[in-house]
Amino acid sequence: MANNLFAQDVLQGLSQKPRKLSSKYFYDAEGDKLFQQIMRMPEYYLTDCEQEILEASKEGIFQAIGRRQFKLLELGAGDGLKTKVLLRYFLEQGADFQFQPIDISRNVLLELEESLQAELPELSVDSLQGDYFKVLHELRSESGIPKVVLFLGANIGNYTPQEAQRFLRSLAEELNPGDLLLIGFDLKKDPAIILNAYNDSAGITAAFNLNLLRRMNRELGATFDLQQFRHWETYNPLSGETKSYIVSLRDQHVFIRALNRSFHFEAWEAIGVELSLKYSLSEVESLASKSGFEVQQHFFDQKRYFVDSLWRIP
Ligand code: AVJ
Repeated sequence: MANNLFAQDVLQGLSQKPRKLSSKYFYDAEGDKLFQQIMRMPEYYLTDCEQEILEASKEGIFQAIGRRQFKLLELGAGDGLKTKVLLRYFLEQGADFQFQPIDISRNVLLELEESLQAELPELSVDSLQGDYFKVLHELRSESGIPKVVLFLGANIGNYTPQEAQRFLRSLAEELNPGDLLLIGFDLKKDPAIILNAYNDSAGITAAFNLNLLRRMNRELGATFDLQQFRHWETYNPLSGETKSYIVSLRDQHVFIRALNRSFHFEAWEAIGVELSLKYSLSEVESLASKSGFEVQQHFFDQKRYFVDSLWRIP
């Protein structure tokens, strides 16, 4: 029966109305590949903006850290492409630091370790696999070495404002005064630009979202027919919520062997699969103070589409 977390979460998500599945399950080997394609597509400006910020601000970021010895942690490290800009620069500056990437995908961590070993062999890496909500307590240390936590890529956008605050509060509780968090937010902008980033004409985002159905077929023995479901995207400029849905194109039943249960979908019934929340700068600042941080500095790209905001534990 439902003896693994994925199966349990699927059971819970499909048993409620409206139905909901967590976007954290997008990232199996297939999903990792599709997300890498998303990061390279022209509509998905987020990655380029953040790459630009880190390139342009690596010196400022290093100065703001203000010390040679620290521990660098990264939540949701992914393939580390952007992080390497900082890692390389910090090493060049003679910083003495250990890098601890944390990610839900074991797969992506193995690749990251391999590529870091090849490209930056002098870097000391100690990776940690898990849901970052759940590994937070493992960040606590008695060593007294100051910590710099990276939470890039607008991953925070997957949380509702309440979840984000709760998560950042718990993070703050594991950190010590003076520790830093560099956190990426996708900012509110022309709604058309935001919507396009999640609704690309090549259909890569659609394939990325629908891979969740394929993953249930593969791992849970489900019978989703991908032809009978469609990706739907919305952006609400009032709330900043960008939402992805998978919509059932007809009345249908899907059997999930791991749950030994069949689920009925009505025609045009939707499953909520992802929230990518967009922030205004004042929302970023109020989130910082509500979660126990002090904003130290904002780093923007030229177009001000994105911000990497540096927060400090007072
Ligand atoms: C990795 C969560 C930041 O929400 O923009 C990209 C994931 N989903 N396209 C985002 C995603 C669809 C991405 N994050």
